[in-house]
Amino acid sequence: MAQTQQAEQQQEKEIYKGLAGVPVDYTAISKVNSDTNSLLYRGYPVQELAALCSFEQVALLLWNGELPSADELEAFEHEERSQRSLAANVRRAIDDLPLTTHPMDVCRTAVSIIGANDLEAEDNAPAENLRKAKSLFAQLPAIVAYDQRRRHDQPIVEPRADLGYAENFLYMTFGEEADPEVVDAFRVSLILYAEHSFNASTFTARVIVSTLSDLYSGVTGAIGALKGELHGGANEAVMRTFGEIGTPDKVEAWLEHALANKKKIMGFGHRVYKNGDSRVPTMRAAMEAMLEHFDRPDLLEMYTKLESGMAEQKNIKPNLDYPAGPAYHVMGFDTETFTPIFVASRVIGWSAHIMEQLASNALIRPLSVYNGEDQREVPA
Ligand code: COA
Repeated sequence: MAQTQQAEQQQEKEIYKGLAGVPVDYTAISKVNSDTNSLLYRGYPVQELAALCSFEQVALLLWNGELPSADELEAFEHEERSQRSLAANVRRAIDDLPLTTHPMDVCRTAVSIIGANDLEAEDNAPAENLRKAKSLFAQLPAIVAYDQRRRHDQPIVEPRADLGYAENFLYMTFGEEADPEVVDAFRVSLILYAEHSFNASTFTARVIVSTLSDLYSGVTGAIGALKGELHGGANEAVMRTFGEIGTPDKVEAWLEHALANKKKIMGFGHRVYKNGDSRVPTMRAAMEAMLEHFDRPDLLEMYTKLESGMAEQKNIKPNLDYPAGPAYHVMGFDTETFTPIFVASRVIGWSAHIMEQLASNALIRPLSVYNGEDQREVPA
């Protein structure tokens, strides 16, 4: 295309590549404040919620806007515990997938089938969407746990209605009750992952339902967006980095080589937070507790060395995926299962945003500036 025409077009409209810095709508669900380095869920600091609340309480807060009363919580716990099992066709579909299928693709497929089973899938009434959100929330641990177990040729472990969400998730994955410290660190990670305003996967979900498509389609699309390593896939990539480095004494040389080759170091940096991710101190404390519990000082040394190396050389700080990766690793999760755990938590945020989008909907359809060939004739 002629350079003059290109220049003219680019003058006409400014491009906001990656939508960086562009507000596209209001949200009352969470506030990410990079200046104060804070994250609020419905007004409450996430650190306080992680210190004081169960994951189930936080789910109700994000969906309903207020923390539940004791009666509301009890009713929800009962409802959630009664919906944890997978339908036979969901199990069969998982069984039919090759073991080479990435667990995120397993999650995406399972959610799609759960949607296909729902006779009211197309009903976008708020009460129906909340019902669907709660049902996905209850079933996702079974999907994640079942998939990890089948990869190890282990039989499925049925859910236990006497265990809370985090405890039961670990029980279904490992077939035994986890120590309370492990349950607690896992609960903290789930609360921190639950919601983060207009991140790429949440925005994907909002775009999908803005066409008046259904909640399951929104969540399925969001899972696809979360999979990438610039987003949720970073927690897996962190463990692959640690594996590649090998031992703490090799961190410096590895980092120097990686940065010299313009490699992005996974688990560092953030589109919104430029002075550090508000969730990291809480997750780091949970990770440290796990590394101590499982006696892995080597991992802590590697973690700290890479963190200081990135601070010195690039002045870039870790994001939530950096401490979450090693914590999930020592708990016993396969590396490929880390992002599906993120799905099980973030389904709360996605569904809250889907409901918010539909409550005041406008089709999301941005413009583009054409920079291709000028109009021309098809050769005869
Ligand atoms: N490692 C090395 N350099 C990094 C980096 C990282 N993790 N994150 C950012 N940078 C550098 C970029 O190379 C770029 O440098 P340059 O200006 O010299 O080219 C600069 O910082 C800006 O990065 P950019 O990717 O344009 O910023 P962004 O706002 O688009 O990126 C992320 C945000 C999250 C995509 C980015 O930090 C990243 O890729 N991080 C690694 C993946 C990750 O952990 N994702 C989880 C996010 S919660």
